[in-house]
Amino acid sequence: MKKTAVVTGANAGLGFETTRALARQGYKVIMACRNMAKAEEAKRKLQQDNPGADLVVMQLDISEPGSIQKFAEQFAADIGQLDLLINNAGIVAMPLSHNSAKHEMQLATNYLGAFALVGRLLPCFNAERQCRIVNVASLAHRMGKLMFDDFNWETTPYHEMKGYAHSKVALMAFTLELNRRLASSGKNIIAVGAHPGFAATEIMKNSNSTMAPKNAFSQWMNDRIEPLIPKPADAARPTLMAATADNVQGGDYYGPGGFLEIAGKPAKARINPVAKVPENGKRVWEISEAMTGVRYLG
Ligand SMILES: NC(=O)c1ccc[n+]([C@@H]2O[C@H](COP(=O)([O-])OP(=O)(O)OC[C@H]3O[C@@H](n4cnc5c(N)ncnc54)[C@H](OP(=O)(O)O)[C@@H]3O)[C@@H](O)[C@H]2O)c1
Repeated sequence: MKKTAVVTGANAGLGFETTRALARQGYKVIMACRNMAKAEEAKRKLQQDNPGADLVVMQLDISEPGSIQKFAEQFAADIGQLDLLINNAGIVAMPLSHNSAKHEMQLATNYLGAFALVGRLLPCFNAERQCRIVNVASLAHRMGKLMFDDFNWETTPYHEMKGYAHSKVALMAFTLELNRRLASSGKNIIAVGAHPGFAATEIMKNSNSTMAPKNAFSQWMNDRIEPLIPKPADAARPTLMAATADNVQGGDYYGPGGFLEIAGKPAKARINPVAKVPENGKRVWEISEAMTGVRYLG
């Protein structure tokens, strides 16, 4: 029977290329996207390339708790079973803003959304086969601190890049804790991480990032540098390895195997030591349950 994958942020960049590759491998792919017009256009492009691609567009704003719940309910009703979830949707270094639950937006999008989506979709995973959850982190997670005293930037002066690193190190601590909890629950699901290194996507522009070029000179510089950065199809390879390679173990983390993990063939990648400490994983989990109200694998 055909395998089913959910890819968040499937309409652009790495998610688009991940969707393309999974469809080529015969997966039915649910493109979980916040903007339906962009998602339908992405689906059209992918099917133009591969008319047999089995793609379904579904609305999901991963930063919004209500949208996650609605998505999971619609998924259970319309699709039912799931083999692979790729939490790919993300934003980077955006100015301070919040979702409707008053969660800082990078934390909400890059981490809390993934935490809640996994919990909401857990009953849908196919019990007959080994399933996978792949969380897309970043090299920047290695610079991140788990801000246990102020997880949601209530008192700490906000810093866009530190906010990104915090969201991604939380995602990695969650990935490892999730894998431990899945193993001890006896579920046939593994959780793994991946990062793309550097990828020439539009993430800065899409995130209204403070790091996006702001004047003609920085745009000129950017245009010179961009051709040297790996294309999204190359940079998506670690995610695809984590999602589909045979010898992947729960808790593995993949990235480009070249210099400083910036580019190159996929290989095992380095994890920030704070994300590996089980006690930290438990604390991140408790905070996430309290913030999202989604409780599972307790
Ligand atoms: N590019 C890099 O160099 C790099 C490096 C390290 C890690 N990463 C990670 O790789 C992942 C993909 O990034 P990318 O470079 O492919 O970026 P991208 O081209 O901007 O694509 C990001 C995708 O996420 C979606 N998204 C953002 N916020 C969302 C929300 N609230 N709900 C649903 N979807 C949302 C975007 O939708 P819209 O089109 O509607 O905006 C888009 O489809 C991210 O997790 C990022 O942190 C990227």
